[in-house]
Amino acid sequence: MHLLAPTPTNIQAAADIIRAGGLVAMPTETVYGLAADAQNARAVASVYERKNRPAFNPLICHVDSLEMAERIAVFDDRARLVAGAFWPGPLTLVLPLRAGAGIDPLATAGLSTVTVRMPAHEVARGLITAVGRPLVAPSANRSGRLSPTTPAHVAQSLGDDLTILAAGPTPVGVESTILDLTSDPPVILRAGGITPEDLVPVLGLCPALAAGTPGTKPKAAGMTAWHYAPSLPVRLRAVDVAPDEALLAFGSTRFMGVRGGGFVHDLPDGQVLNLSESGDLVEAAANLFRMMHDLDRPAYRGIAVMDVPDVGIGIAINDRLKRAALYDKAVA
Ligand code: TXA
Ligand code: MG
Repeated sequence: MHLLAPTPTNIQAAADIIRAGGLVAMPTETVYGLAADAQNARAVASVYERKNRPAFNPLICHVDSLEMAERIAVFDDRARLVAGAFWPGPLTLVLPLRAGAGIDPLATAGLSTVTVRMPAHEVARGLITAVGRPLVAPSANRSGRLSPTTPAHVAQSLGDDLTILAAGPTPVGVESTILDLTSDPPVILRAGGITPEDLVPVLGLCPALAAGTPGTKPKAAGMTAWHYAPSLPVRLRAVDVAPDEALLAFGSTRFMGVRGGGFVHDLPDGQVLNLSESGDLVEAAANLFRMMHDLDRPAYRGIAVMDVPDVGIGIAINDRLKRAALYDKAVA
């Protein structure tokens, strides 16, 4: 693996790769992203190719400042207010694309809108600044698979030859919230690190989640049912576990039984991973993709998942879990 510690010298080296049209995996506060120059058509195309991503699925442009954002998107007062309140941070805005912005049309999938986000991770912003241009950065995984929260996930999913700025596990663990400010009232196209309630004081209303229920026609491709899937079938709302199933737990498993006899705490190490023993949803989000990765082994016949409360960032967690469960039904 080409793991680079995120030193200033290495960030410059990574920026050189991107300026030359290459790809670099970079850490953000949400998940690792596969970064490329948003204004370079060949580079953007190679992002799609590397991820095996359908070309109609547009990419987020990552910026280091409001100024850079305003060069590619048209901000009104409300958009500035929202950006002022949540940037840098895990909130992506859908805005009108600025004429002459120079963003490659493949990156916007030919739409007249553009998605912009200023990541809270200093390494990501340092890389954008070093390149001096907006970077597209979809999650650094093969399309339709789990988003990577560690450098090892990136290498597993996209191959060993990719340069990775390795800064350890990503703190938020689920992708950014996507807020569509081009519709009135604004709607959330993807639940994520910023919750609908977080947005109330700034928007003066609680934005609805777009009909993101799996099966509906996607506006954001993150809304397609199969987007967040491990290889194993996923069983939700588990209240017990089969002896040959892995368990993704949440909260206490003290009294949880194994089918055919015994208790969860008697199962071998590694078969049970707990998103948060204390029931902390933020901790659970940060652990979600890594633990699904770790449980996704042929030794088990499936992954049983305990109930996670559907509040706050738990909404984003359940959204990803439901998609993972539906994927299995779609291919079965
Ligand atoms: O947290 C994140 O946002 C991560 C990190 C790496 O920054 N990035 C990420 O990017 O999740 P990606 O490409 O995997 O997800 C982008 C989502 C897709 O669901 C896409 O359909 C949607 O954004 N999208 C992009 N442009 C859009 C647009 N103009 N209108 C509606 N949806 C859009
Ligand atoms: Mg993704």
